[in-house]
Amino acid sequence: MSKVHSIQSPLLDIQNLTKYFPVKVPFGSIRGQNRQVKAVNDVSFQLYEGETLGIVGESGCGKSTTGRTILRLLEPTSGKVIYKNRNIFEAGSKEIRTIRQDLQMVFQDPYSSLNPRKRIGHLLEEPLIIHGLGDSKERTESVLDILEKVGLKAEHYYRYPHEFSGGQRQRIGLARALIVNPKVVICDEPVSALDVSIQSQIINLLRNFQESLKLTYLFISHDISVVRYLSNRIGVMYLGNLVEEAPTDTLFKSPLHPYTKALLSSVPLPNPKIKKERIILSGELPSPINPPTGCVFHTRCPYVMDICKKQVPIRRNIEDGHFVSCHLQN
Ligand SMILES: Nc1ncnc2c1ncn2[C@@H]1O[C@H](COP(=O)(O)OP(=O)(O)OP(=O)(O)O)[C@@H](O)[C@H]1O
Ligand SMILES: [Mg+2]
Repeated sequence: MSKVHSIQSPLLDIQNLTKYFPVKVPFGSIRGQNRQVKAVNDVSFQLYEGETLGIVGESGCGKSTTGRTILRLLEPTSGKVIYKNRNIFEAGSKEIRTIRQDLQMVFQDPYSSLNPRKRIGHLLEEPLIIHGLGDSKERTESVLDILEKVGLKAEHYYRYPHEFSGGQRQRIGLARALIVNPKVVICDEPVSALDVSIQSQIINLLRNFQESLKLTYLFISHDISVVRYLSNRIGVMYLGNLVEEAPTDTLFKSPLHPYTKALLSSVPLPNPKIKKERIILSGELPSPINPPTGCVFHTRCPYVMDICKKQVPIRRNIEDGHFVSCHLQN
């Protein structure tokens, strides 16, 4: 797949994406002053048609901010996102609406994004109205069609969001994204809030839709096992930085970044008789308000060298499609 990528042009090209949030700090000599949470820092990657790119990393590393900024649900600090030869960050509001029909998002908790006072039929029709798709009769037909496709029933049309289970609500979240016939779906922890048995139902639904609707996914999760199951390629984030990116098999067979190695060492093996070393990282996760200089991982890296404290490592292409930002690979 990675060989194909080198000749195929990306569907979405994320270049040097950076998102800082202004925050006020309530302590110390800088109390009350404006500082910045460096949530996403100079992140670049490409999304190719028909693939699933997984993004993993621990809580707070900037996964959701990356997803939301790509769709401009958050305004970027800097960088570019190229879609159909156009930088999304330069598009006006009308153009953004057209682009958003192609690029949809599914959230972890669909309940918070579903208006509790509106019936499901209306909530599913809403995206069609926003994008000016179909007349009233056609829209109702589309709603009934998508309800069936996501495994719900026509009788659910008049129900309210609170009358559904968590799994059903995620099906509604998925239906709302898919009803406008998108090309790319950014899934932000779509199964993390669900029971394991329900998780697999939603994951299978996502897989089936990917095939039947020719979708491309950016699949965000802290659960590396789920990401492994779904993704063709995986990107690993640490403290707002993308530290490694590789085809799924390559990443699991030969991870290069010490953070990736630690992350993978925590995944249980299918055969519990095979023992593997678990790498426990020392130290606390630094604050994204004041991230370490040089390589952001240097304060916790078992192989830290002098250069790591001073210089930001550059992103290197080790072999086809395997990128890593680490001084050990220089
Ligand atoms: N609106 C905001 N204002 C200020 N800081 C924010 C805001 N949203 C996110 N952050 C901060 O940005 C950093 C990245 O957050 P983000 O939600 O992207 O992480 P995440 O990887 O999705 O975490 P999780 O796995 O818990 O969902 C965190 O330090 C978070 O506190
Ligand atoms: Mg998140």
